[in-house]
Amino acid sequence: MEFKKITPDKILENSFDLIGKTWMLVTTQKPDGSYNTMTASWGGTGVLWGKNVVFVFIRPQRYTYELMENCQNFSLSFLEESFREKLGFCGKVSGRDKDKIKECGFNLHIENETAFIEEGFLSLTCKKLYFGDIQQSGFIDEELLKNYTQKDYHRMYVAEITGVYKK
Ligand SMILES: Cc1cc2nc3c(=O)[nH]c(=O)nc-3n(C[C@H](O)[C@H](O)[C@H](O)COP(=O)(O)O)c2cc1C
Repeated sequence: MEFKKITPDKILENSFDLIGKTWMLVTTQKPDGSYNTMTASWGGTGVLWGKNVVFVFIRPQRYTYELMENCQNFSLSFLEESFREKLGFCGKVSGRDKDKIKECGFNLHIENETAFIEEGFLSLTCKKLYFGDIQQSGFIDEELLKNYTQKDYHRMYVAEITGVYKK
């Protein structure tokens, strides 16, 4: 299946549904050159510093956190409902223990020196611009601290969308 490169403003899907309901696979490169992927359902798309960006939130215990720290580019891929079980697997098992891409039978497609999951109906290649850690002192609604019983505050990455690939 060929991908059509589109501009971010031509993404027709609603990003609330895409991220919150469809979920996404965050794919990062390992030091040995192979890749890991992780399911995420918190984040966003938007405009910052005059650039089209994504916001992703990664907890410190994830292997993806370690990999994100060491790579400049990563990708986000959105897959059809039929892949839901595989997304569940990638959201439960760590790439420290298993080669999730291999076990799921996913293929990789490379654009902009960035690999994304070929099975996705939509993928974004992204270049890191900024990170910031969620802090306890910043919560105006302290009810939300229930998300951090282990004090494992997410690191937010703001990344420029360098390409949008749609089937
Ligand atoms: C639906 C769903 C959404 C998730 N969203 C996030 C997220 O936004 N940020 C995060 O750090 N972990 C999230 N997780 C948990 C990670 O996907 C999970 O811990 C995964 O095993 C980490 O893989 P890794 O160790 O290979 O990075 C989510 C899990 C599921 C099932």
